[in-house]
Amino acid sequence: MPEIRVNLPREPYSIVIEPGALSQLGARVRAVAPHERCLLVMDHNVVEPHGEVAQQSLQRAGYQVAATTLTADEKHKTLAAAESLYRVMLEARLERRSPVIALGGGIVGDIAGYAAATYLRGVPLIHAPTTLLAMVDASIGGKTGVNFPLPGSNDLGKNLVGAFWQPKLVLADPEVLLTLRRRDFVCGLAECIKHALIADASLLAWLRDNAKDILTLIMPTWQELILRCAAIKAAVVAEDERENGRRALLNLGHTFAHALESASTEFKHGEAVALGLVAAGRVATSLNLLTTDQAQLITDVIHRCELPSTFVANNWSAERAEHFISRSGELPSPERARSVERLRGALENRPAIDQLMRAMTFDKKVADGRMRLVLPRGIGAAEVVDDVPLDLVRDAWSRIGAQP
Ligand SMILES: NC(=O)c1ccc[n+]([C@@H]2O[C@H](COP(=O)([O-])OP(=O)(O)OC[C@H]3O[C@@H](n4cnc5c(N)ncnc54)[C@H](O)[C@@H]3O)[C@@H](O)[C@H]2O)c1
Repeated sequence: MPEIRVNLPREPYSIVIEPGALSQLGARVRAVAPHERCLLVMDHNVVEPHGEVAQQSLQRAGYQVAATTLTADEKHKTLAAAESLYRVMLEARLERRSPVIALGGGIVGDIAGYAAATYLRGVPLIHAPTTLLAMVDASIGGKTGVNFPLPGSNDLGKNLVGAFWQPKLVLADPEVLLTLRRRDFVCGLAECIKHALIADASLLAWLRDNAKDILTLIMPTWQELILRCAAIKAAVVAEDERENGRRALLNLGHTFAHALESASTEFKHGEAVALGLVAAGRVATSLNLLTTDQAQLITDVIHRCELPSTFVANNWSAERAEHFISRSGELPSPERARSVERLRGALENRPAIDQLMRAMTFDKKVADGRMRLVLPRGIGAAEVVDDVPLDLVRDAWSRIGAQP
């Protein structure tokens, strides 16, 4: 089976990527975490299509399996969810050597990972990711955690409580992605583009050339995609486990994305990351770190992957949308009227630059009108730039269509 090693000095582990691998989960878990009992934590939406295969495989390998489910949304990614797992763990008499297996996307992996890191001061963790994002990013590198209310507010701050807890194994079966909604699948592609931008220019060209096969569910292409992207994440983590240096580059596009996610509920994380990558590209172009051709290539790949590059429908600039609306009287047709309505809605709902700047600067170091951002340096490399002028950040928001 194709495997990647995450070469951490103390706790190296393997990432197995193979169609059909879920049916071998039990034997694989036994090889790294043998015990009589285990806990299988499943994403509510994966129980029906994939839960039985996982559970039976664990039973065949000799485990008494306690199984439980979690709801995968950010509102439920809380300490209460982790607490519900502690109760199940105690009832199932899980001990220090009993493994916890997380079968789900990034949300379930983060919560189950945090519970595994803290129950009895830490029990073995296995990730069986079921989203593209979790296969290429969230399941690798040992970040676990939950959201927690911000002081004086009911808003949840993302991943404020957590722990580094490396899994013993990551087992990714690309076939489970066949049941994922298209929008959720496409969101994972944003992180793949980000990985290419920080570490591998040839991967970006490959994504451009293979986007069609990826979106028409060609399994060998999926496997290659996951292998290449997981290998990048594994290498970055092996070099800098605790994010003291290079690992911070994985935040490319994310300062923009997190601001957008807190200012608007319209966008999923991967969509916000795609917009963040375009915005970071714009800032990098202004600072001569990126050519306009390179910035255009990034936008092109984002389009081919069916991700947004502006706030406006059809990835149009606000000016182009306004122009289209202003001319709509000349060629009336029901179809055009519907397009106009859609564009008007998109233009009205887009967040304002001031609101986005406030969200961005909430907890970030901003001094003397300058901000710290991860930016691409050409394609395939990135760097942390400490003193980005705020007017360039405003310009980038404007470029992707934020309201003036
Ligand atoms: N720990 C890390 O290093 C890390 C890195 C990146 C992101 N994250 C976290 O990951 C989370 C996002 O994860 P995600 O993008 O995987 O989304 P997710 O976990 O929210 O899953 C997306 C949706 O797909 C459903 N789903 C999952 N697998 C499915 C399948 N095979 N078939 C059908 N439906 C399925 C889920 O129920 C959910 O509705 C965020 O909370 C983010 O903070 C963590």
